[in-house]
Amino acid sequence: MTTLGLIGLGRIGAFHADTLTNLPEISGLVVTDERPDSVAEVAAKYDATPVDSVDKLLSSGIDGVVVAAATPAHAELALAAVERGLPTFCEKPIAATAAESARVAEVIARSGVPVQVGYQRRFDAAFAAAKQAAYSGALGALHTVRSTTMDPAPPPMDYIRGSGGIFRDCAVHDFDVIRWVTGQEVLEVYATGSVQGDPLFTEYGDVDTAAIVVRFDGGALGVVSAARYNGRGYDCRLEVHGFDDTVVAGWDRGVPVRNVDPAQSGPSGFPSGMPHHFFMDRFAEAFRAELSAFVKVVQGGPIQGATVADAVEVAWIAEAATESLRRGVPVRIEEVKQ
Ligand SMILES: NC(=O)c1ccc[n+]([C@@H]2O[C@H](COP(=O)([O-])OP(=O)(O)OC[C@H]3O[C@@H](n4cnc5c(N)ncnc54)[C@H](O)[C@@H]3O)[C@@H](O)[C@H]2O)c1
Repeated sequence: MTTLGLIGLGRIGAFHADTLTNLPEISGLVVTDERPDSVAEVAAKYDATPVDSVDKLLSSGIDGVVVAAATPAHAELALAAVERGLPTFCEKPIAATAAESARVAEVIARSGVPVQVGYQRRFDAAFAAAKQAAYSGALGALHTVRSTTMDPAPPPMDYIRGSGGIFRDCAVHDFDVIRWVTGQEVLEVYATGSVQGDPLFTEYGDVDTAAIVVRFDGGALGVVSAARYNGRGYDCRLEVHGFDDTVVAGWDRGVPVRNVDPAQSGPSGFPSGMPHHFFMDRFAEAFRAELSAFVKVVQGGPIQGATVADAVEVAWIAEAATESLRRGVPVRIEEVKQ
């Protein structure tokens, strides 16, 4: 049996507490957060052990750590856990910027301690099947991959302020998936964006809607679309087009689109389900599979999900997109790496 520590008990941290305490392999959960009220609430709700500092959590005899604190704290917390030799699961992104991610990755690599990064789409059955189809050769040479992430409403503006912007915070999921599914590395991105919602997005140097065109080294093109306001629901889809065949993931009954094709409207049409509300309901099963895979890492198994090296590559793509938005021109990954 395995005991884990969980640092950060906000939106996703509290959700992970629920998932973790329902995993049969978990025998105990120690929790902490900067906010004492969150610690008390989560500990009471999930019968977890509360502690009032990260240090106490790390020295409490746990077998591994889940970092779900706010993004600016990831690097320091992940490194503190690794320094103690504790296998770590770190929510995306691994650090606030790509340069910091690369620095953190070097320290982690030298330590030899396994670290898994929270890109849960890799554990979704449909996304995994899309990757399998692409890798099997059944699609032929890939020419276009399209990935969409649209939230129904933005998180609190305080979160947006520390998030690093829509590319580092949201579109990183799309960047991870299109790189993972194609098996190709990104050469160049062109990103554009707009603000039509809260004016604070502009004040924070961010956008609420973004489109990114990606060129891969294997010849495929990627088209990523991200938005913070999407009234119909949480829209997360992937389309992988090859010379021979096409597969889609996320086109389930809950895909939040209203199909106006007369032949597809009504209860027997498509889609007919309740639109997905948010990432938590859409990916509940993927989060469970992801954390269950992390428990196997803690028990000595290999990393099945995103590695720190993957997270660093994704961070450079986000960095290039951020720079492209700022300058209004395509930006090569090699350029930002220098
Ligand atoms: N994989 C996903 O789909 C997904 C979804 C949402 C959020 N996330 C990631 O999870 C992280 C948290 O997001 P959230 O929405 O829960 O944010 P949140 O603002 O709701 O919660 C963050 C929590 O971290 C705590 N915290 C901050 N610094 C800390 C520190 N040094 N030590 C202990 N606690 C600290 C805060 O008090 C707060 O309770 C972000 O990095 C985000 O990118 C991932």
